[in-house]
Amino acid sequence: MIQGRDVVTLETFSPEELRFVLDRAKDMKRDGHGTPLQGRALAMVFFNPSLRTRASFAIAFSSLGGTVVDLTAERDIWNLELREGAVMAGVAEEHAKDAARVLSEYADAIAIRSLARHDDWATERRDLVLVSFQKHASVPLFNMESVLEHPCQAWGDALTLEEEFGDLRGKKLALTWVYSPNARPLAVPHAVGIMAAKMGMQLTICHPEGYELDHGALDVVHRTAAETGGTVRVTNDLTEATTGAHAVYAASWGSTNLHGRPDEERHLRSRHTERRITADLMARTQSGRFLHSMPIRRNVEADDAVIDASSSLVIRQAGNRLHIQRALFAEVLA
Ligand code: CP
Repeated sequence: MIQGRDVVTLETFSPEELRFVLDRAKDMKRDGHGTPLQGRALAMVFFNPSLRTRASFAIAFSSLGGTVVDLTAERDIWNLELREGAVMAGVAEEHAKDAARVLSEYADAIAIRSLARHDDWATERRDLVLVSFQKHASVPLFNMESVLEHPCQAWGDALTLEEEFGDLRGKKLALTWVYSPNARPLAVPHAVGIMAAKMGMQLTICHPEGYELDHGALDVVHRTAAETGGTVRVTNDLTEATTGAHAVYAASWGSTNLHGRPDEERHLRSRHTERRITADLMARTQSGRFLHSMPIRRNVEADDAVIDASSSLVIRQAGNRLHIQRALFAEVLA
């Protein structure tokens, strides 16, 4: 059903395809998975740090019998040029198009992590590293978190939520901005929003003014919800957003308007240090289920009592990355 596909954005997968992979992941988690990827190889390139994605991608692929090459940009590979037609007289020794084409000779799939740098949002949202690899690779490309999206995170989160609630249609998910001293990527809230809409959930997006999601991602969320029977509500009020929710998904993300202007962004952010998930807030929800993609700043984004509660799903979320990625690898490379 998804053989040979790129896993770059959830937008390109239908609810039926999402369902297919979720069911496959559940089967593999319950019954085991064999080694269908013997003789196959995955090349991972990280332009940014990672704990969960690096470990779960490598372990998922190798546990299916495959071989993994793990490359860190600016340490293991040459500086890459992204501009088409560039005169490469600067620091970049290699063009991304050549890196993508060469890795396609060695590997059956390429996986990229590439987050925003320090440009304005109009530039960043073009997701140039990912797009360049997607354009020039001749094997399937996996997005391990880019500027705009983190599809495998949200796919694993859907698995975690289904394990708790079964059918997600009509379930209330509060996707809430929480304070962190640093502007974190928008990829997780975008992907979680799109996933919730694809699953027909009642989604509430909550953030302070100035922290609106990317307009393109938000359009996809609204359009998708209209197709699936889901709903989308945006509010600034954290108490209102969490009251009655089946689950609270906390994330801290940067201001798109102030992207590339870190001093102004920090100033705006510093006005919202009180936005933290507490046990009192969770007591207002229907079930106390708490999600976060991690890494999480304890007692800044959420209290220890919330993260360590028996109803917290954060560790299972991280664990389910392994199962969803095994299912994706097995089906994309079938
Ligand atoms: N959630 C997640 O992607 O974690 P890492 O950044 O550690 O990979």
